[in-house]
Amino acid sequence: MAKIAPSILSADFSNLALALEWCEESGADYIHVDVMDGHFVPNLTIGPPVVKDIRKRTTLPLDVHLMIENPQQYIPQFVDAGSDFITVHAESSGDINKTLAMICNAGVKSGITLRPGSPLSLVEPYLTEADLVLVMSVEPGFGGQGFIQESIDRITSLRRSLDSNDRGSSLISVDGGVKLHNASKILAAGADILVAGSAIFGTDDPADTIKQFKAMD
Ligand code: DX5
Ligand code: ZN
Repeated sequence: MAKIAPSILSADFSNLALALEWCEESGADYIHVDVMDGHFVPNLTIGPPVVKDIRKRTTLPLDVHLMIENPQQYIPQFVDAGSDFITVHAESSGDINKTLAMICNAGVKSGITLRPGSPLSLVEPYLTEADLVLVMSVEPGFGGQGFIQESIDRITSLRRSLDSNDRGSSLISVDGGVKLHNASKILAAGADILVAGSAIFGTDDPADTIKQFKAMD
C-alpha cells in the first residue's frame, strides 16, 4: 500500500487542527510540513513554533521539509519542536554532511532533497547517510504546480541506485504535482511515499481523497 504524506501547505492555516484530524482519521502515514524562508525559495511559510503546535495535535510522524538557507542553524529548533524527519536541500548553504549528522545525532531521521533542475549526482554522496530522499517534482516554493514528467526517470534511476551496491536503504518520497491520476506511475517508478498538497486539501473531502491515495498500489 502507498504511504501518503499530506502537505499541509495547501490546508487552511487558520484551521490546521481540522486538517490534522482528516489526516488521522483517513490513515495518512506522515504530515508533510513545508518550511520556507523567502531566500532559498521566493515564499514564506511557517517555522518551529508552528511545528511545535502541530506536534501537540497529532501523533502522526512529522516530515519537515526545509526550504531554507543555512539549515544547520535551525536544526536544534526543529528537533525540539518534535520533528520526526528533517529533510534539507543539497543546494542549501553550509556543510550538508554536518547538517545530516546533526539531525541523526539528535535521534531524528534525516532526509536529503534537490531541486528538479539539479543533477541527481548532487544527492549521491548522501545516500548512505540519509533515511529519506525527497525527489522534488516541481520547483520548490509553491503548491498547486504541475508534475514535471522527467521526475519519473529520476525516481527510476534513484531506485536503481539505492537498490544496488549498498548505496543505502533510504525511502524515496516524491513531492510536487502528485495527483490521484499520476500516483500509480510514480509508485511503479519506485517511490515509497507520496507527498500531496493541493490534490488533497483542494478537494471537498480531503479525508476521502487520502483514503483513495492509500488504496493505490
Ligand atoms: C513545494 C512543496 C510541496 C507542496 C506540494 O515546494 O515542497 O510539499 O506542498 O504541493 P502540491 O501537492 O500541490 O504540488
Ligand atoms: Zn515539500
